[in-house]
Amino acid sequence: MHVVIKKEPITALMKNPNYAALHRRFPTIPHLRAYARRHAPRFAFEYMDGGAGADTGIAHNWAALDAVEIVPRYGVMTDLPPISIDLLGRRYAAPFGIAPMGGPSIAWPGADLLLAKAAQRAGVPYVLGLAGGATIEQIAEVAPDVFWFQLYRCAKNDHAIGFDVVRRADAAGAHVLILTLDVPVRTTRSREVVVGLGGAGLFRPGPRMIWDILTSSGWAMAMMKNGQPRFANIRPYAGANASLNDVIQFARREMGGAFSWEEVARYRERWKRPLVVKGILHPSDAERAVKLGVDGIIVSNHGGRQIEALPPPIDCLPAIVRAVGGRATVMMDSGIRSGIDVVRALALGAQKPAEACAAVVRHPGALHF
Ligand SMILES: Cc1cc2nc3c(=O)[nH]c(=O)nc-3n(C[C@H](O)[C@H](O)[C@H](O)COP(=O)(O)O)c2cc1C
Repeated sequence: MHVVIKKEPITALMKNPNYAALHRRFPTIPHLRAYARRHAPRFAFEYMDGGAGADTGIAHNWAALDAVEIVPRYGVMTDLPPISIDLLGRRYAAPFGIAPMGGPSIAWPGADLLLAKAAQRAGVPYVLGLAGGATIEQIAEVAPDVFWFQLYRCAKNDHAIGFDVVRRADAAGAHVLILTLDVPVRTTRSREVVVGLGGAGLFRPGPRMIWDILTSSGWAMAMMKNGQPRFANIRPYAGANASLNDVIQFARREMGGAFSWEEVARYRERWKRPLVVKGILHPSDAERAVKLGVDGIIVSNHGGRQIEALPPPIDCLPAIVRAVGGRATVMMDSGIRSGIDVVRALALGAQKPAEACAAVVRHPGALHF
């Protein structure tokens, strides 16, 4: 299937009347991050920004990307190369997309839908997480050309919920199914614990959290408009009168454990469109996935949010690209903060590098041509 994205490409978005003003305020991701820290309630910021342990996995991801240097080659092309790509049978406007997030509606109520609409407009993939705050059906409506769906393991009663949400994603036209392999258990993140989101994970706002909400007027208004953060896709299975905390407890009971390769094979059998596994860091696991017939691999350490000791995916990428040998599409995430980080990933094999930036070295000061 080949779908041409007819909506505005990325360059057209730069003609958006708001583009110049937004770009002046937020020229880089760190500018956005600083703004989010000031405008989101503290618990929301700590949830979206925090990593496992003392955030060392996040720091390693950033440092490993910063260590990749790009050696340009000149005289090859006179204009900027096109940045659109073919990915898993569809054409997208740029070689990056929006990764699945379980709680964007904690970060900002209604964020799932805002992100999906923005991705549709920009023509880049949007991945709805099983634990996200919008339903499969809502996302299919607002982002039909760019909609991918991510599943955590829900294996009870022979995958009753897992298989049913995948059936719904199929019926709604999700183009790609992603199985996340790297969350056998949910990590307790210290920054979440401190702000009251840890432990059983129930939403029981204490005085501090209520004060945070009241003093973050934009967030509070977004919650009045969109309702409390929730597990929108799991709610239908939790019973008609389930409260938010009932749904959270139900989701915690249903989701969990690590996908086995046999289970991946069962999803492969059921899902006829592109299947991707996320969280791969070892070439032998990539090899195993390819043998099972998956179409794509996301080299990822979950953005340093699960286990701080995992290696940065950018370091694992070349060996995995070699092991896959073109038999599946290799993507990566974790630590990407700029266009130059995207180029670093492309140059190390996530996708064929543009001819104009052919060579990459890992060790500053040790160039051998
Ligand atoms: C707030 C938040 C929630 C996330 N929830 C999920 C999730 O539900 N499923 C999943 O596969 N990955 C989830 N991730 C991981 C991302 O998909 C991605 O692997 C990671 O954010 C990449 O690292 P980066 O944040 O440094 O770009 C989440 C990440 C964040 C920041």
